[in-house]
Amino acid sequence: MLKASLNRVLTAIAKQLSLSPENLIQYAHEAPYAKVTPAGRTWPSGTGSISEKRILYAIARGLNPTLSLDIGTRWGASAVQIANSTVYPGIQPGSVISVDVETHMYGSKQPVGKFIPDTLKVELVISDAMLYLKMDTNMYELIYEDTDHTFESTEEIYKLALDRLVDGGVIISHDACHPKFKGAVVAGIRACGIEPQVYLVEGDSCGLSIWQKPKNGELKNASVIVSHKWEVPEEATVLGGGENVPSVFPELLNILSEEPPAPETREEDTEPPAPKRKKRKGKSRKAND
Ligand SMILES: C[S@@+](CC[C@H](N)C(=O)[O-])C[C@H]1O[C@@H](n2cnc3c(N)ncnc32)[C@H](O)[C@@H]1O
Repeated sequence: MLKASLNRVLTAIAKQLSLSPENLIQYAHEAPYAKVTPAGRTWPSGTGSISEKRILYAIARGLNPTLSLDIGTRWGASAVQIANSTVYPGIQPGSVISVDVETHMYGSKQPVGKFIPDTLKVELVISDAMLYLKMDTNMYELIYEDTDHTFESTEEIYKLALDRLVDGGVIISHDACHPKFKGAVVAGIRACGIEPQVYLVEGDSCGLSIWQKPKNGELKNASVIVSHKWEVPEEATVLGGGENVPSVFPELLNILSEEPPAPETREEDTEPPAPKRKKRKGKSRKAND
């Protein structure tokens, strides 16, 4: 994990994803809706920090995905970053499918996706993410996951989402090191047999995990579920061109070594409702279109 300034985090991400660090830094600092919504209001809490919005915009613009999946729409901040990055002049516009299990935010009258402007190509799907992914046939170049951050959800979503990711595609999770979630995000991802890099911008508390599917089509250990136990990383990975980055987030390592809560026993699933297409903004496309 790397905890560093925004530019150093971007440089490390560029290295991980074989993107230009100069471009990524430039894109991040240009991100039009990092501070405010398209309506000009400050983003509500729960949408990540300004730096994380800059990072998401920069990665999306660097990857220039044709089709992206945003899992956990809520206010629409992440969908806006991804969709907006692909309508920048000179870049081929792409589409975003954004999935949320709720129609409205926490029982309020505010609809999910409230801040996604009609000008952006975002298709909002109201569905449980797992159900959606089981039925989905699209292939995505970029998937952004930001749901409930439990071990179980993360693992299940990743197991399904990895099959929907093109070779070389990138999957990002939010709140990868938020103390509230006690390392569950990274543990859930690792349970799928993959090892993401985790980045935390200094001053932030959420963190992003990033993993890129190998470009040669071989998903190392993909079919091997390592363990359902929480795992403590043997040692923190320090990225950033060999510079001496201060030891990373020792408090997270402590949290990760704690025993997880006992999993809740669930009743056998009843037949779930089919995902409901709520509204369509722009045309969604299959990856190979
Ligand atoms: C932290 S918010 C997402 C914030 C959003 N990415 C943004 O930038 O505005 C989490 C959202 O995930 C949704 N969610 C939680 N579990 C889900 C699931 N299993 N499937 C789909 N959506 C889920 C919640 O309804 C909530 O709106």
